[in-house]
Amino acid sequence: QKSGFKHFMLKEIFEEPMCLVSVMTGRIKNGKVHFEELEGLKERLKNINFVKVVACGTSYHAALSFKYFLENLSDVNVDAEISSEFRYKRQHLKPNDVVIAISQSGETADTLESVRLAKRQGATVVAITNVVGSTLSRESDFTLYLNAGPEISVAATKSYVSQITLLYLLALKIMEIKGIWDEKHEGLIDRLLRMPEIFEKFLDQVDNIHQIAAKYKDFKHFMYIGRGYGYPTALEGALKLKEISYIHATAYPAGELKHGPIAMLGPDFPVFAVAPNDFLFSKTKSNIIECRSRKARIVLLTNEGNEEAFELADDVIFVSNSIDELYPILMTPAIQLFAYYVADELGLDPDKPRNLAKSVTVE
Ligand code: F6R
Repeated sequence: QKSGFKHFMLKEIFEEPMCLVSVMTGRIKNGKVHFEELEGLKERLKNINFVKVVACGTSYHAALSFKYFLENLSDVNVDAEISSEFRYKRQHLKPNDVVIAISQSGETADTLESVRLAKRQGATVVAITNVVGSTLSRESDFTLYLNAGPEISVAATKSYVSQITLLYLLALKIMEIKGIWDEKHEGLIDRLLRMPEIFEKFLDQVDNIHQIAAKYKDFKHFMYIGRGYGYPTALEGALKLKEISYIHATAYPAGELKHGPIAMLGPDFPVFAVAPNDFLFSKTKSNIIECRSRKARIVLLTNEGNEEAFELADDVIFVSNSIDELYPILMTPAIQLFAYYVADELGLDPDKPRNLAKSVTVE
């Protein structure tokens, strides 16, 4: 049931505040993260300095956000890999290694094969999935559920927000177990708890995003750029746009522009810049200026209070002001809604994109 929404995709984006509540429920107590599901893994996590993550598509982008988060805040090295690549490469896993497999459906063939391969090498597998009793959960050693409720639209939306949030909680748990814990971590927990409310507020501005999206529906190409925490969001933004609107969209770390992609830009090739006013903003800003000098139109996704926004961009989408690490969560509904409204303006059904299935059970 679409409950009055035009499409499941829109309904599911509007369920995100609720999903944030569900994924955190029972998992934050007295300012600390609790995962009863992981009791048996605690000892192993104490000395962990490497984690492998495997996933496909949107789930892989969640894996990348986890990588940036845990690597920036700890000494743990995170190697995120696309399952269909992982499974056909020689692996060097050791019996004490932990592999995290992320799959909304829990049925993605390449991710399942990756899990089997990792287990054959003696690694311990932690599954992150939305589907209770899925093959992934049955074949993994430990399972953390997203509790996001069924996701009907082919394009993953609410499950992605839940995945990043759950992965952040897991990263925080790993840090706590390793004895890395200070006011920074307390602040992150505090802000995560306030996230559902911030999302509700953000969703009040859908009309603004709709209006902006309508202006860009006739372009044939789009370039998404971002740095640091903004990069996985740029990748996900481009994936959402291409899969439901069929507009060619590509994503690059902003620093890569000069190494080739900037050659494509021009008045017919707009740029969607994921650029909160974080520690890398001045760098991304220079890249945006370079794009503008090629006459590319700019849609800027940034945070409230960024006074340079309108100088830099043709159109601006603001999210709440936050701390650097949390922008991947905060910015997600913006990229999803932008893609949704472009598709809807084009008269396409974003719930059923051509050539795509909700679960990719064949390789
Ligand atoms: C994009 C999308 C896909 C999935 C991918 C993996 O919107 O939904 O890219 O993320 O097929 O699916 P799961 O997470 O079920 O393994």
